[in-house]
Amino acid sequence: MKKNLVVVGYGGQGGWHADHALKSDVVTLHGIYDIKQERIDLAKSKGINTYDSFEAVLADDQIDIVVCATPNDVHKDIVIRALESGKNVVCEKPVALSVEDFDDMCAAAKKAGKLFTVHQNRRWDVDFLAIKSIIESGEIGDTINIESRVHGSRGIPSDWRCHKPYGGGMILDWGVHLIDQMLQLIPNEKIVRIYNENTNITTDEVDDGFHLMMTFESGKRATVEVGTYNFIYMPRFYMQCKNGSAYIEDWQKNCQIARLKAWNEKEVVPVQTAAGITKTMAPRDEITLDSYEIDRPKSDVHNFYRNLVKAIDGVEEQLIKLEEVRRVLLVMEGCFKSAETHQALEVNI
Ligand SMILES: NC(=O)c1ccc[n+]([C@@H]2O[C@H](COP(=O)([O-])OP(=O)(O)OC[C@H]3O[C@@H](n4cnc5c(N)ncnc54)[C@H](O)[C@@H]3O)[C@@H](O)[C@H]2O)c1
Repeated sequence: MKKNLVVVGYGGQGGWHADHALKSDVVTLHGIYDIKQERIDLAKSKGINTYDSFEAVLADDQIDIVVCATPNDVHKDIVIRALESGKNVVCEKPVALSVEDFDDMCAAAKKAGKLFTVHQNRRWDVDFLAIKSIIESGEIGDTINIESRVHGSRGIPSDWRCHKPYGGGMILDWGVHLIDQMLQLIPNEKIVRIYNENTNITTDEVDDGFHLMMTFESGKRATVEVGTYNFIYMPRFYMQCKNGSAYIEDWQKNCQIARLKAWNEKEVVPVQTAAGITKTMAPRDEITLDSYEIDRPKSDVHNFYRNLVKAIDGVEEQLIKLEEVRRVLLVMEGCFKSAETHQALEVNI
């Protein structure tokens, strides 16, 4: 039987959840609640059931799942109260503004005996899944370095994301996705070093971009960069492995792979540059290098909900695990600290 879902915070992302629930094979949209009357009115105009207060949501025993899609600063209170009222809870990312707050939320879930998870929906992004599939197939060998970037040119959206008290800024907004993805791409290894610098090009109040470098215990390196003042974009993913490289230009493009067939070349044709010739930087030919593209993996983001419902029923393991979410929050705290001191941090995350 489908589970009854209520969305708290019917804004941009709450609307996304509501639309998905309306089409879902596993959940039913039972209603929405928002503090703004205009959002309640909009829901009503679409024939969606609405609640007059958050207390009314808490009091409704028909609800199986509460989705919290409010601005970041109020996640903690809504999540804890929903758990205490006996609901399973999905919280939007970033789940909390600190590890300490997150621990309180996890303690409430444990005490209530209810499922609590976070909507890390970018685990279903096709570009990420392509890079993950290449790593897992081993076709270009062990990872040396992964670079993950998103670039835009419009600064931070001019809403609560511009303001610190609401949990604004790009580390919390986009960083949380890209760091989460990166920790999935380099699994089972501790991070030993973090160095991050923020950008404040369009505002001083919060970071409007950042550049994070992480070193893992085996020496693998990862870069995560978010930019909102980039008028030419760098690639979404760039990866160096022991036997080749992978590259994804942007969200819509296939993954390009260059796989090394043989190290030694018979003859290297030098490249002419203004200052002279170079063989070191000359491109390889097809005798030593295989260049090809892989198809974009199939992905259905609604599998987040299919897993959620099975996890509530105890027949499947929860995909977005709380310990993974906590690790991402630890990295984000490291980012803020490193940016503040302009120092690299030795860590054990
Ligand atoms: N996973 C994703 O891909 C993704 C994408 C966008 C946003 N988000 C997350 O979703 C959350 C909401 O972001 P958004 O872009 O939808 O913001 P938004 O401003 O469009 O919507 C937030 C809504 O919450 C309502 N609200 C505020 N305080 C409330 C409260 N105490 N109780 C009930 N309603 C309240 C507001 O009136 C507003 O309608 C944020 O945590 C954001 O990071 C996630």
